[in-house]
Amino acid sequence: MQQRISPAKSITGNIRLPGDKSISHRYAMLAAVAEGETLIRNYSTGADCHSTLGCVQGLGAEVSESGTEVRIRGRGLDGLRAPSADLDAGNSGSTIRMLSGILAAQGFSSRIFGDESLSRRPMDRIMKPLSEMGALIAARDGRFPPLEITGSPLRPMEYTLPVPSAQVKTCVLFAGMYAEGATIVHEPVRSRDHTEIALREFGADIRVERRKITLQGRSKLTGRELYVPSDLSSAAFFLVAALLVPGSKLVIEGVGLNPTRSLLLDFLMSIGASLKVLSIEQTNGEMIGSIQVKYAPVRGGVVDGATTAGLIDELPVLAVLGAASEEGLTIRDAQELRIKETDRIATVAENFRRMGIEAEVLPDGMVIPGRQKFRAAEFDSFGDHRIAMAFTVAALRGDGESVIGNAGSASVSFPEFFDTLKAVVDPA
Ligand code: S3P
Repeated sequence: MQQRISPAKSITGNIRLPGDKSISHRYAMLAAVAEGETLIRNYSTGADCHSTLGCVQGLGAEVSESGTEVRIRGRGLDGLRAPSADLDAGNSGSTIRMLSGILAAQGFSSRIFGDESLSRRPMDRIMKPLSEMGALIAARDGRFPPLEITGSPLRPMEYTLPVPSAQVKTCVLFAGMYAEGATIVHEPVRSRDHTEIALREFGADIRVERRKITLQGRSKLTGRELYVPSDLSSAAFFLVAALLVPGSKLVIEGVGLNPTRSLLLDFLMSIGASLKVLSIEQTNGEMIGSIQVKYAPVRGGVVDGATTAGLIDELPVLAVLGAASEEGLTIRDAQELRIKETDRIATVAENFRRMGIEAEVLPDGMVIPGRQKFRAAEFDSFGDHRIAMAFTVAALRGDGESVIGNAGSASVSFPEFFDTLKAVVDPA
């Protein structure tokens, strides 16, 4: 599917975006191993989170959907059933990496696979800690999906994350739910903490002291009612759109403002963006609120170290903003971008080239000079949802109509993206 995007005169209005992808995955997986029913409101509409629902259904959890409400009848920690077919994680790294922690501890074997992009993404980062806990996992060429997981009894473990990855942390903690005793995870760089919050909500015995997480295994989880805030990583595309197009003023309502995710807002404000948090409250342990963004030229700067880790999903669209900024943007320490749904350093660079934007590509990032002209172009998402949306946003500042090839991949996290954008764009 192609999308044609015309330049925008301004971006204005009030919008509400679909539920957070990271939180939706965690709620669905935990609901499946909890006792009783869980009702999840505002569940992500993205294909990735539906891959998770398909997998938990394949494992025997009863799932029913009505709009964005999902009910899951959990089977208890030991009640999952051997799937009758291979589990399909689709495009979703979170599904395969996090669910593997649960699959490794079952009394049955399973096989989990993904699409072409997921089949190229490394799984050794979860296989290593899980094997130390006693798991038996075989992978294609030792590290790629599909994974053949032979369920086995697991031991608790103390583990220091070698890469700042919330997916790996979650995988180890999910495996730790099944190990007798305390599983401890140390995080050298703090990653999103939705798993810790969700485990507490479901009743697990979990303690967090600075960057040390201690989970007592075999705690009983109980089904409950939950609300998923809107996805701040989806909001990022609209925030940047408003910062690219003069005259814009946008309010994004009910969005997740968890401090381990909202570094995006701090970073944008630090480079001169006009952002205001209009309200803030807590729901199920997660912060949620409304934010207002008004167009203002941004300075640009450097993203590196822990900031890179905290902005990892937002970097493609921040790179676009960098090209329009006053002083340009340098991104470092972002090797992880190379193993996302695409090599996002390469796919951003290729789309920049198509629109006549200069950027120096580094092994771990990019140097993007500021004040560049955005030429209309034929972009490609390369099958990556965040690349589709980042370059749609770039096209709003183009000097004519642009075309986004493979635009349908946006539906991996945000099927309503193009309709929501249409509702707030005032065409030039
Ligand atoms: C996610 C963690 C991040 C992120 C991904 C979602 C999560 O991946 O890029 O989109 O929900 O835990 P890593 O854990 O690989 O950094």
